[in-house]
Amino acid sequence: MKTLLIAYHSQSGASAQLARAAWRGAVMEPGVAVTVRRAWDAGVEDLALAQGLLLVAAENSGALSGGMKDFLDRTFYPAIARGLVLPYALLVSAGNDGRGAVRQLERIMSGYPFPAAAEPLVLRGEVGDAHLDASRELGAAFAAGLAMGIF
Ligand SMILES: Cc1cc2nc3c(=O)[nH]c(=O)nc-3n(C[C@H](O)[C@H](O)[C@H](O)COP(=O)(O)O)c2cc1C
Repeated sequence: MKTLLIAYHSQSGASAQLARAAWRGAVMEPGVAVTVRRAWDAGVEDLALAQGLLLVAAENSGALSGGMKDFLDRTFYPAIARGLVLPYALLVSAGNDGRGAVRQLERIMSGYPFPAAAEPLVLRGEVGDAHLDASRELGAAFAAGLAMGIF
């Protein structure tokens, strides 16, 4: 069975809500196990046990949130050393923008041998039903793609 790792960083809870909704969507897929980790607690061992990676974080000061950047910084060399290659997707919670977080993440990921499994999804403003639905759909689509071996 394949495993989807959902790693999230959240200061005020918005990204955590989106990560939870993505988890709800992903676990609908019977062929995939889903692990959720806070970015601060996640490490290369979590990546090594997964076949797909969904990153969920906020835009802070025009950039990817520090907690998520820390996770990627910490795991970069260890992931390369282990030859890990995971399809990834990004879900961003933002106030009114989000483009800086996407730009930075794409810049960081251009150094990883990880292929993008989906276009980055940016959800702006307070978390509402539409945000949760979109997050759930992203989680479900990612898990279904993994189960089918699309990525
Ligand atoms: C320090 C700080 C900086 C922020 N900078 C931005 C920003 O540059 N662009 C933006 O769209 N939203 C910005 N926001 C708003 C957050 O992205 C938004 O509130 C998000 O939903 C927070 O998610 P979280 O609760 O998971 O941390 C910022 C919020 C904080 C606290």
